[in-house]
Amino acid sequence: MAAKTLIRFIMNSPIFLMYRINKTIREFCRAGFISTAISEGIYDVLSKGPASCEDIQKAIGADFNQEGLEAWLDLGVSLGELAKSREGYSIKSAFSKELLIPANDAWKAFFQARVEIFHDYIIKTPAYLKGKKQFEFNQSYGELFARSSRTVEPFLIDIVDRNIPQSGACNLLEVGCGSGIYIKRACDRNPDLTVTGIELQKEVADFARENAIIWQLGNRVDIQNIDVRNYKCEKPYNIISFYNLIYYFPVNERIDILRHIGSLLQPGGQLLLTTLCPENEPSIQLMNLWSSMTKGCGPLPSPDQVCDQLKAAGFDKIQVEKLMPGFFLFTATISNGK
Ligand SMILES: C[S@@+](CC[C@H](N)C(=O)[O-])C[C@H]1O[C@@H](n2cnc3c(N)ncnc32)[C@H](O)[C@@H]1O
Repeated sequence: MAAKTLIRFIMNSPIFLMYRINKTIREFCRAGFISTAISEGIYDVLSKGPASCEDIQKAIGADFNQEGLEAWLDLGVSLGELAKSREGYSIKSAFSKELLIPANDAWKAFFQARVEIFHDYIIKTPAYLKGKKQFEFNQSYGELFARSSRTVEPFLIDIVDRNIPQSGACNLLEVGCGSGIYIKRACDRNPDLTVTGIELQKEVADFARENAIIWQLGNRVDIQNIDVRNYKCEKPYNIISFYNLIYYFPVNERIDILRHIGSLLQPGGQLLLTTLCPENEPSIQLMNLWSSMTKGCGPLPSPDQVCDQLKAAGFDKIQVEKLMPGFFLFTATISNGK
């Protein structure tokens, strides 16, 4: 190209806008590439060492279009996520490598959930609104959500440690128990504790039950695959935990749900409820978008709304604690029982 043409092109182009577009598209491609490399098993292959295109094709069972796979892998090279050498493709970036460290599993799931689930909500919500549609509550994402909600684990572990007595018979009901990790913490703390964990999604309930067996808690922990709305108990509980769940219910059903939960507590029993609340921060606004646009769920509540609804459901001694911006703990008791 003649230097004159290049100069004219530069002079007539919105350079700063082009730079911003390039930077944004790069990060957009990076997010999609890494998340897909994880979910399609390509990073599983590459984490064992360099692999050729044929090796990857064989390992993931996709042998019909080598050019397509090569183009996809070369995109990863251009993004700086992969390296390409005579031995084949390998993982290059510190970001990709860090996501694959087993101790970072919750952040890996957090990242994947944003790319695989929430991205759809960003690009489809206005069209869905025009078509009066909502997203299905997709049960296949249950395990990803259960794993990604462990990103707030340090806060919840601290709540368990502050509220589960260290000794003495005590029964705990954990609603929407996810992976069951907080049940484990509570059992580790008190050898006399017995726990019922209830979980709506079968796949997640199975995951929690398997975990309870691995943790050798099978004799103290009962995991049930049931909707809390249909759950009844013979003996009311001393403590009920309701972590990160309130937005799985429409706003106008929340008082009834809380009243039902109150009916499962002994007089003087304690409810521990945590929830995200709206905050001007993209990752919290994404959760708010997800819960507002998913069938059967509802927007993140404000702290005042949770307090009002607890009160309306018959709870008292309601206390609120801000754990971090946009994340709150509510404790409350039922003085009079049912
Ligand atoms: C965001 S996850 C939180 C998991 C766990 N409590 C935590 O904090 O890590 C919410 C969980 O509640 C479960 N859930 C939603 N609605 C429920 C219902 N009506 N009854 C029982 N579990 C429910 C979901 O399947 C999901 O696993």
